[in-house]
Amino acid sequence: MAESTKSATLIIDGKEIELPIYSPTAGPDVIDIGKLYARAGVFTYDPGFTSTASCDSTITFIDGGKGELLHRGYPIDQLAGKSHYLEVCYLLLYGELPSAAELEKFEGLITHHTMLHEQMQNFFRGFRRDAHPMAIMVGVVGAMSAFYHDSTDISDADQREIASHRLIAKMPTIAAWAYKYSIGQPFIYPRNDLDYASNFLRMCFAVPAEDYEVNPILSRAMDRIFTLHADHEQNASTSTVRLASSSGANPFACIAAGIACLWGPAHGGANQACLEMLKEIGTPDRIPEFIARAKDKNDPYRLMGFGHRVYKNHDPRATVMKQSADEVLELLGVDNNPILQVAKELEAAALADPYFADKKLFPNVDFYSGIILEAMGFPTSMFTPIFAVARTVGWISQWKEQLSDPQHKIGRPRQLYLGEVNRDYSDIETR
Ligand code: CMC
Repeated sequence: MAESTKSATLIIDGKEIELPIYSPTAGPDVIDIGKLYARAGVFTYDPGFTSTASCDSTITFIDGGKGELLHRGYPIDQLAGKSHYLEVCYLLLYGELPSAAELEKFEGLITHHTMLHEQMQNFFRGFRRDAHPMAIMVGVVGAMSAFYHDSTDISDADQREIASHRLIAKMPTIAAWAYKYSIGQPFIYPRNDLDYASNFLRMCFAVPAEDYEVNPILSRAMDRIFTLHADHEQNASTSTVRLASSSGANPFACIAAGIACLWGPAHGGANQACLEMLKEIGTPDRIPEFIARAKDKNDPYRLMGFGHRVYKNHDPRATVMKQSADEVLELLGVDNNPILQVAKELEAAALADPYFADKKLFPNVDFYSGIILEAMGFPTSMFTPIFAVARTVGWISQWKEQLSDPQHKIGRPRQLYLGEVNRDYSDIETR
């Protein structure tokens, strides 16, 4: 925990309460209100946590004004351009870029944990065949605690480490198998001679009857999508993982909770919703109609892939993703993709509209990722599972950080109660 160098004074009914202020290495100062209830008998109120730091962390930093995303201090555009996903995983987990020997060892560890216990296939087969792959992932990841007992004791640092490696390694297999199950094709086992992204693509697209060569361009694009989604500080799913973990829940249960939260359309589910929106718009001439709906106060409709709680200038992940979309479509020979055309014109139209400019609503990472994923051959239902695969390392890194703090407590928010008080129960005949 940071040292307090300044303080804030809160005056309630004439009584002054001094509150310590902590200065971070980057970002705004933080007022510590932890003892406020004990000292003044009041709670603070911040639904949606718009002004509340829920923890201290050294992993990821976002400057929403500048449009900056740093992992352990390294800018995301440098990591997306020069590094690769497993190296970023190492960085997030351990705090430093690995040496060549450390990276080789780490990649070997992850590669050798990619298989799933054979009996876990029964879990996949228990789902309806048209189940959404995210539903399967929530269930199967939660079920891992029934298969890997030797990595559920969170008080044992070695077990925490093994659980971390297992989750990062097995998540692509789980996502790929969820997909295979939903389209009625046989499960494809992981191969240890392939890199992380290539292995995932092969498990998704190979069939036993044919040879499957992973296209290195697609593998590189896949790896970049994983890298861009690896962590994003205290977002909704990460906070869900931390809250679940605060009760002492096992790692697989915590990550299953994170996956469930990610699924929502305001969070990771936006990539599926965004591509579906672009398809629904269909042609550029319909863009004004959809923009008008998004601006209408009486219509709950929103432009998916626009806006962010923290980024108020641009989402640096979206910038890289847009370049990737252009590259992948060109390399795949997909000329004049109508969806990309709608996306580009929608972006331009929204940015030129005072409603979006005034509210600082810019395209986020999900605006372009779906276009790439669709060009690769993924159905929209796989977009959010791919986000979940990538974000697993972020969840795990934040989970490990939380558990390594001996002061961590169960998360237990308070409330502003506005309900009835002290009513006498009335018998049903008298109501
Ligand atoms: N389209 C139209 N209006 C919007 C949009 C949008 N996409 N996003 C926000 N607004 C308006 C909103 O109606 C509100 O207007 P007013 O002040 O007049 O009531 C104002 O902008 C602020 O919105 P908010 O909901 O209070 O902002 P928030 O910080 O709580 O929500 C958000 C952030 C990402 C949930 C929201 O912008 C949104 O729903 N976007 C669409 C879904 C999306 O793309 N989500 C992916 C986020 S990035 C990937 C990830 O990290 O998960």
